[in-house]
Amino acid sequence: MLFHDLIINNDSPIYEQIENHVKCSIHTNMITPDSKLPSTRELSQVLGVSRNTVLVAYENLEAENVIYTKKGKGTFITKSAFERYGKKDYNSNNKMKWNVDWETKANAYSIEAEKMDIIKNEIPWSKDLISFKSISPDGELFDLEEFKRSFLYRLSVEGNKILNYGYARGYKPLIEYLKQYMLEKGVSGEHKDIIVTNGFTEGFEMMIEAFTNLGDYVLCENPTHNTALRIMKLHGIKTIGIPMLEDGLDIEKLEQYLKKYQPRFLYVIPSYHNPTGIVIGEKKRSQIYELCREYEVPIIEDGFTEELLYGSSHITPIASLDKERNGVVYIGSFSKILFPGLRIGWVMGDNRVISLLESVKRCKNIHTSSIDQGILYEYLQSGILKRQMKRMRKSYKERFEFAKQCVEQYLDPAFVWGDGGLHLYVGLREVSARLLLQVCYERKVIFMPGDIFSLDDRGENTLRLGLSRVSLEEIETGIKIMGECLAQLRNKAE
Ligand SMILES: Cc1ncc(COP(=O)(O)O)c(C=O)c1O
Repeated sequence: MLFHDLIINNDSPIYEQIENHVKCSIHTNMITPDSKLPSTRELSQVLGVSRNTVLVAYENLEAENVIYTKKGKGTFITKSAFERYGKKDYNSNNKMKWNVDWETKANAYSIEAEKMDIIKNEIPWSKDLISFKSISPDGELFDLEEFKRSFLYRLSVEGNKILNYGYARGYKPLIEYLKQYMLEKGVSGEHKDIIVTNGFTEGFEMMIEAFTNLGDYVLCENPTHNTALRIMKLHGIKTIGIPMLEDGLDIEKLEQYLKKYQPRFLYVIPSYHNPTGIVIGEKKRSQIYELCREYEVPIIEDGFTEELLYGSSHITPIASLDKERNGVVYIGSFSKILFPGLRIGWVMGDNRVISLLESVKRCKNIHTSSIDQGILYEYLQSGILKRQMKRMRKSYKERFEFAKQCVEQYLDPAFVWGDGGLHLYVGLREVSARLLLQVCYERKVIFMPGDIFSLDDRGENTLRLGLSRVSLEEIETGIKIMGECLAQLRNKAE
């Protein structure tokens, strides 16, 4: 009710207070154009003032074209009033002037999150750039026709169900599909459950929320996935980096740190590690598993692109070694092999882990979108994934091999790491990647400087080249330009 909070005072004439109240309500968007005002009789009763006073106020407002009257229908607010009074302050007491200083209200969490926000702090993507920044999948490879079919079919079969609230653990047919999918990867679901999450990112954050306390240690590869680093930092975790060797993390250091820090977890990306692209072999996988078992430190295994294996046959996840034990929590994602926009991933772990995550998830966002899960399930069970993976592998492999060749040819790198997947990791000879980025940006080429993924200053001379969204032509042109910029920097240094 428009006038319920108008308290009449003795500071100015009552009709003026009524007029100002209407203008003020326009200013604060409490009413909309064409909304109806109470009749003069009703308003005089509500405010306990004479009807004449209300009549004067309405006449003045009508003269100013703030309101209009439709015979037999009532009095309404004009549209033009919003143009005039929408911005000005009409409250004589200045009550409406309210400018909160949100800067001072922000807490340490959001300030730190903003400081670490790559999108805000790094060079933004634009059309005229050759960008090696992204490792998102190439949208041209999406099978939109099959997706449309899945959408329409699932909606027509059980629209009433999937448009309603669902289970915190996820859409049941998808969970059953994922159990079978994990079994095919070699991971048995005995004593284990699955929860569907909003991508890897939410699954990982829920693990940190559910199983760590402020100041706990977590071991991870150094360098590692920047988002995981940010999440841990924001939750007050002390991250300890295990240096990467050419075949994956340094096992000796792993043992040393397991002993020294008694960490809460080891977070590891065994296949197409981000950013190095390294795939850890079977022997090292079991060494990692056995060491963690010995020191009783659970493993969070990130399997985000293991399906993209180009050359060799499938390497089973570390989770497959866990069999009847319960020390490995596997987090999977469809972001790189299907559609990141769906934001669907999953966590597979001990029954008790998933039961706790279920409650955490319910607190956070109740459940992942059922309609998205339903469509994805329909898409997956049509059997199309295998066909699509074939296309993806072929397309990415071509880019990967060509880029590796170009890096060797034009960059004279200290090393090039990467066994496939969506990116390459390059070590530069005595040149800072940040400096190179600055010069390359002037020539319209950008990439990810390695320091973003690093826990210390080791990443300074390294960079990641994301290849999934660049053509072969762009790869050659971009890397050639990078080579010219490198030569320019080296000449300057001499
Ligand atoms: C190491 C790693 N894990 C997982 C993901 C996928 O995250 P999400 O499923 O939240 O999109 C990414 C994406 O870049 C990644 O780099």
